[in-house]
Amino acid sequence: MQKTLIIGGAGFIGTRLFTDFGPENFTVSDNLSPIVHNKKSIADFVGSGVEFFPGDVTQPDDVKALFEEGVPTNLVLLAAETGTGRSLHNVTLNTRVNAMGTALVLDALSAIGTLPKRVVLTSSRAVYGEGPYLDESGKLVYPQQRAEADLKAGKFEFDGLTPQAMCAADHLPNPSNIYGATKLCQENLLRNWAQSFGVDAYILRLQNVYGAGQSLTNPYTGVLIHFLRMLSQKKTVNIYENGGITRDFVHVADIASAIAAALSGKGPAGTYDIGSGERLTLEAVASQICELTGGPAPEFCDAYRLGDVRHAAADITAAQTALGWEPKVSLKDGLSGLIDFFEA
Ligand SMILES: NC(=O)c1ccc[n+]([C@@H]2O[C@H](COP(=O)([O-])OP(=O)(O)OC[C@H]3O[C@@H](n4cnc5c(N)ncnc54)[C@H](O)[C@@H]3O)[C@@H](O)[C@H]2O)c1
Repeated sequence: MQKTLIIGGAGFIGTRLFTDFGPENFTVSDNLSPIVHNKKSIADFVGSGVEFFPGDVTQPDDVKALFEEGVPTNLVLLAAETGTGRSLHNVTLNTRVNAMGTALVLDALSAIGTLPKRVVLTSSRAVYGEGPYLDESGKLVYPQQRAEADLKAGKFEFDGLTPQAMCAADHLPNPSNIYGATKLCQENLLRNWAQSFGVDAYILRLQNVYGAGQSLTNPYTGVLIHFLRMLSQKKTVNIYENGGITRDFVHVADIASAIAAALSGKGPAGTYDIGSGERLTLEAVASQICELTGGPAPEFCDAYRLGDVRHAAADITAAQTALGWEPKVSLKDGLSGLIDFFEA
């Protein structure tokens, strides 16, 4: 593997990537955002074997400094503000880190004039918003964000519509929250820049990533950690929208292998949907967690969170066929590992 720079590489996905695929193959840059890392410092990465450069992607001088000693063959862009709920009240911060941060990296590269061969960006299912549905006549439709009045009245589903697995080749993006809007902006910036400069851009639209190493301190990401926290406090897991929200949970090891597959350059550049390919209700996942931890069965309520979407799952066919990638971790094994990590 050729040397790869991971920007935002100290987080959940980046750490898994360099751990699984050899820290000696990577350099990492990160600002160790306190909401993700709590009190972690660079010292925590000494011993991991990875070369670490502190840097904030929103600071032009930090970004320029990243390429002072040369431009890497491959670049992975992970740095982001990630919380959907938090994004609604932090439009500026989300735009600054996700959109402006990407723009600064791209400008720094074109100013140097030496370009990486490949750039991998981890985008999100959030770019689809509520996602694609088929109506009763079989027509593809894209409903807008659900109205608060409907959510308040406990009306969570779209009448007469059937959710479809999200597929970049077949479906239009249609974000329904600020986080999704800034991830789509990030995609568009990279896609256009890469096309113009002949750089291979791999845009991976990730579904819900889980697994050991997930931030235990960031209250805005990771519904499964939230369930585990409730159980550890001897509280019953209470699931919003009467438990009927569906998600596609994909293990972080499978995300690391998807990024590695893109970095290998064996498949064509493009936009890929990455998930387990399986749609599960939060009720089903919470029930498995409660069973595995011996906790009380989950309960349901008609509370909701503005900006959450009702259904999400990936059509992973393109990633399987073009990148030769396959998710390998079963939900049961993945959840057991997550529980061990949480308890430790
Ligand atoms: N985890 C998921 O479920 C998921 C799903 C879809 C997409 N993604 C995307 O994958 C990427 C990585 O996600 P993750 O789960 O590892 O998140 P994470 O929060 O664990 O990691 C992100 C890293 O970016 C760093 N960062 C934040 N702001 C920065 C800045 N201004 N400058 C430099 N570094 C900064 C953080 O310190 C952190 O180490 C993100 O782009 C996210 O949008 C994640």
